[in-house]
This record gives sequence, structure tokens and C-alpha cells, in this order.
Amino acid sequence: MTMPPSSEQEALKRAAAERAVMEVEDGMVLGLGSGSTAAFALEALARRVRKGLRVAGIPTSAKTAALARRLGVPLTRFAEHGRIDVTIDGADQVERGALNLVKGLGGALLREKIVASASRRMIVVVDETKLVERLGGDKPLPVEIVAFGWQTVFERLTAIGCGPRLRSAEDKPFVTDGGNHIADCAVAAITDPAGLEARLSSIVGVVESGLFIGLASMIVVGRASGVEVIER
Ligand code: A5P
Repeated sequence: MTMPPSSEQEALKRAAAERAVMEVEDGMVLGLGSGSTAAFALEALARRVRKGLRVAGIPTSAKTAALARRLGVPLTRFAEHGRIDVTIDGADQVERGALNLVKGLGGALLREKIVASASRRMIVVVDETKLVERLGGDKPLPVEIVAFGWQTVFERLTAIGCGPRLRSAEDKPFVTDGGNHIADCAVAAITDPAGLEARLSSIVGVVESGLFIGLASMIVVGRASGVEVIER
């Protein structure tokens, strides 16, 4: 199901984000996700910080870092905290049942994946349009690739059944926070996410794919009927 962004959809994202932030406890080190739903979570977190909650967050993008600073949420780095208690982040697709994800339409997938992988728990906040039976299909799979020789990476992506398109911004190739490009890959419904992840990782020049397999511990879904919490 897809629907255009609307105030109703925003309200569902906000409700999911606010429920997720209830999982945060005093003294925690947090992963701060990217995207509009994660931004709602950051706003809810900031309200708790203003009331005395002590946390420190590792941001997954320069945009999130800037928002956290503006909202007064303390930031930290991996050099100070190697392990994260809870990460709250959005997703572009959530596979029902297995709870695998596609992320990266916002372009922050590499840092998001590093932060999620270093977290004891990853809480994913979405509105109900993000839940799918199978990943892929009508949404592209973002794959972060190094800029040097991206054309050769495209040949290899095509050879494994991914139809890459170079993401652009203002008529130039989009550049991630890590200085890389993004290939938005058209893929059929993904029946074997782990197998596809392994094939993508084996391509020289692929930095990371937007497939997040086995990383989400809890999905908080904003639905018109209320907030649903799905635990692994
Ligand atoms: C950022 O790179 C993405 O992974 C986002 O988490 C994803 O695009 C979800 O964004 P929204 O919450 O804005 O839909």
C-alpha cells in the first residue's frame, strides 16, 4: 500500500515515534536514526531530556546531528561509547514476520547500519504503509557504492538481477555523508534477503546495501486504529 505524505500519515509516524521513545531509560546511550519518523522520535526524546532524562546519542547522519544539537539532545561518539543500548530509526520497508528491513531512501544507510549493528536493541518506527509481505517490488533497494568506477559496479549489479539507477540531487550524483554514491536498484520481490545481501556484499565497490537483516528487535507501527508493537 502506498499513499502520499499527508497530515494523517505524519500523525501515524509521530504516534509510533512517541511510543518508541517510551522505551528509553535514564543513562542510556542511543542511536539516533535519520528520516522524518526518526526526527519525530528525536523531538519526543528532546522533550524528555528537557524534563531531566540523561542520555547521549550517536547520530546516523549530519542532518540528525544538526537536529539533535538544535533540540538540545546531547551527542556522543563511538570513541566514547563503543556499544549502544537502543537505536530508534525509521525504515522504508518492513518485512512482516521476519522483520527484515529496507533502508536508505534518505541516503544515510551506511551509518544507520553501523549504528544498528552496534546496538543491543534496534526499535524501528514506521507508519502502516511501510509493512510489506516481501521486500523490494515497488520500492528500489538502495545500495551505497564508492564513486570511483561506479559504472563497473553497475554492470555487476545488473548481472545479479538488480536494475541500478544512480541517485542524483540537483542534476549531480548524490553524495552520502561518507562521500559515496547510491545505486537505487529495481528488484523483484525479494524471496531470499540474506542470499541477496551476500551477493551484493561480494561485489567490489559495494559499500553496503540497504537490506537490514535480523537487526530490528522491535517494530512500532503507527496505524489508523492505534499503535501496534511487534517484537522479534
Ligand atoms: C534514511 O536513510 C532511511 O533509511 C530512513 O530511515 C527511511 O528512509 C525512512 O524515512 P521516513 O521515516 O522519512 O519515511
